[in-house]
Amino acid sequence: MSVRVIIGAQWGDEGKGKIVDMLSDKTEFVVRYQGGANAGHTLKFDGKTFVLHLIPSGIFRKNTTCVIANGVVVDPEALLEEIKSVKELGADPEKSLIISEAAHVILPYHKLLDTVREKSRGSNKIGTTGRGIGPAYMQKTSRMGIRMMDLLDEKVLEEKIISNLEYTNCLLQNMFDEKPVEAGPLFEEVCKYGKILSPYIKDTGAILRDAYDEGRNILLEGAQGVLLDIDHGTYPYVTSSSPTSGGACIGSGLPPSSLEHIMGITKAYCTRVGNGPFPTELENAEGEKIRKSGGEFGATTGRPRRCGWLDLVALRYAVRVNGINELTITKLDVLDMFASIRACTAYKIDGEETRDFPLDPKKMEKIKPVFREFKGWQTSISNCKSFEDLPEEARTYMKFIEEYVQVPLVVVSTGPGREETIRI
Ligand code: GDP
Ligand code: IMO
Ligand code: MG
Repeated sequence: MSVRVIIGAQWGDEGKGKIVDMLSDKTEFVVRYQGGANAGHTLKFDGKTFVLHLIPSGIFRKNTTCVIANGVVVDPEALLEEIKSVKELGADPEKSLIISEAAHVILPYHKLLDTVREKSRGSNKIGTTGRGIGPAYMQKTSRMGIRMMDLLDEKVLEEKIISNLEYTNCLLQNMFDEKPVEAGPLFEEVCKYGKILSPYIKDTGAILRDAYDEGRNILLEGAQGVLLDIDHGTYPYVTSSSPTSGGACIGSGLPPSSLEHIMGITKAYCTRVGNGPFPTELENAEGEKIRKSGGEFGATTGRPRRCGWLDLVALRYAVRVNGINELTITKLDVLDMFASIRACTAYKIDGEETRDFPLDPKKMEKIKPVFREFKGWQTSISNCKSFEDLPEEARTYMKFIEEYVQVPLVVVSTGPGREETIRI
């Protein structure tokens, strides 16, 4: 039995979906615990590519129950579309997907608020995915949110929609010069979602705690990454939830003592979508080369991802915030054709060298990364089946990372497919 949590150790898109899909063959429960349809997790097997936004990445495994837990914000419209598309691809969500009754609901007015708020920020915009994440978590923490269980009680639902729209329309009209949203048609639409989704809605916290007591294998799938965490990321350029291992317990209802394996996933370099600090960013031909070689375009919005060298200061921070005790490095193959590779080993701020990741934007702005250079391997690693098969230069690079962060490397990913994986 084991409980393992998969954490994005950077700014998201580290390849969590691929790793969760790969590990879920021996897992009875795969659980999404935070975020919403802002996530885009890519799975590649049998020559096909799938992008999941809300449904956990174990959905294509026959004996795995997929759980959308309490901490997730669920857009029913997006979820129903996703249920339809995974069914077309052979999954059986009616049998294998359950949704927490306590998960909050994203409605069209959350997405509208997200978009108009971004527009009003001008050049200070966060660069959100526009999926309504911030407004939904805002209303959740203001204790006015609508939960999945409310979709099952039309009287409660109607009252909540009316009172939420009083507040939301006031914002829309007075702050953003938008038209108000009408309650009637929205209520009708949401009632329809409730009827279709009702068989999926359960007390998933209780189910997971029973599973834990029975010694089942449970995999908690983080969305986004540590540096996008609301409390520990590059605020305000973050998402509105807690992707960290602490957030995994909050969002799933499993106790902190249950977390045995805390796997951090990092790319062999760095990317970021949206705005905000990125100390090792390469705004030049080298960055463009990484983007092209890594296919670095957002899985949810299609936006080009900003690219840069691996930031070990940030990775060490991720290790310490989460208690990461297993390391996975993905997309090593993307660096195959580089003659030289760099990794940031310290920050210089006002002439002082540090290995601590600052949270103050004024300090972030001043960071001058200190790089260490590594010789590239300049050959394809796609056929390597073991760590020893990898070229010496690649092994040196990974050993350095492992030693810098003091966490054992357990998986190296050498391509997007399930089988393009080296387990150490
Ligand atoms: P996630 O959000 O963390 O699940 O990551 P995304 O799916 O948004 O982005 C990762 C991208 O890299 C996807 O297109 C994956 O198919 C791809 N990918 C994952 N691992 C590897 C790898 O080792 N090598 C290469 N070349 N691509 C990979
Ligand atoms: P996965 O799970 C990368 C980024 C957005 C924006 C910020 C806030 O695929 O790794 P939001 O819509 O959440 O309010 O946007 O967070 N962002 C992601 N970046 N991967 C993700 O998810 C992301 N989800 C949100 O680009 O900068
Ligand atoms: Mg992604």
